[in-house]
Amino acid sequence: MATERRPSIAIAITGASGAIYAARTVAALLTRGVHVEAVISDYGRRLLHDELGETATADRLMPYLAAKYGDGVTAGAIVLHSNRDLGATIASGSHGCSGMAIVPCSMKTLAGVAHGLSRNLVERAADVMLKERRRLVIVPRETPMSLPQLKNMVLCAEAGAMILPAMPAFYQQPQTLDDLADFMAGKILSALGFDHDLYPPWTGRVGKP
Ligand SMILES: Cc1cc2nc3c(=O)[nH]c(=O)nc-3n(C[C@H](O)[C@H](O)[C@H](O)COP(=O)(O)O)c2cc1C
Repeated sequence: MATERRPSIAIAITGASGAIYAARTVAALLTRGVHVEAVISDYGRRLLHDELGETATADRLMPYLAAKYGDGVTAGAIVLHSNRDLGATIASGSHGCSGMAIVPCSMKTLAGVAHGLSRNLVERAADVMLKERRRLVIVPRETPMSLPQLKNMVLCAEAGAMILPAMPAFYQQPQTLDDLADFMAGKILSALGFDHDLYPPWTGRVGKP
């Protein structure tokens, strides 16, 4: 019998560039009433601050998201776990998270997931998703990529993860950074099984019909 009152998704934020993708994804999930179980690595915290500014702190994510994306985010709820807490809810397959996204995903965390290391909560929660055959969406960001990094993506894909690189498209004619972030967040929500209107569906040609 299901015990969760609302859909529950794990979100990991690691130390790759692209904190805006994480913020937009979390905000979009919250706006849809999702319960977000968040874990942010040390470098993920640093990138939040460095790329989004002083108010984007891990401990005050909800106020930051409400100020940037509107009070609609309060439709959902967010719980922040320590990356060192391997006893947190999302470290166990018995917890009800239906999916997880690592956004953005550093090459270090990618390697840890690819090899099942479970050295911290991000890696352990991802390992749980793979062993339980649940949705795991990995959003890697690096360029160029080494052969070990490419092979680690193949290992994760073979284990059942979706590799969804941080590669926004331009056929939607984005005007702002937020437009680019909307596109990536929309792709992530689709991969996690959520409807959204973060970008217009492709109509067969560039520009408005
Ligand atoms: C400003 C900055 C930007 C970085 N950008 C990336 C990146 O885009 N991709 C990446 O794989 N690592 C990047 N790194 C390196 C990672 O943060 C580093 O490997 C870290 O150990 C990752 O740890 P984590 O996966 O636990 O967050 C960056 C580091 C800094 C300080």
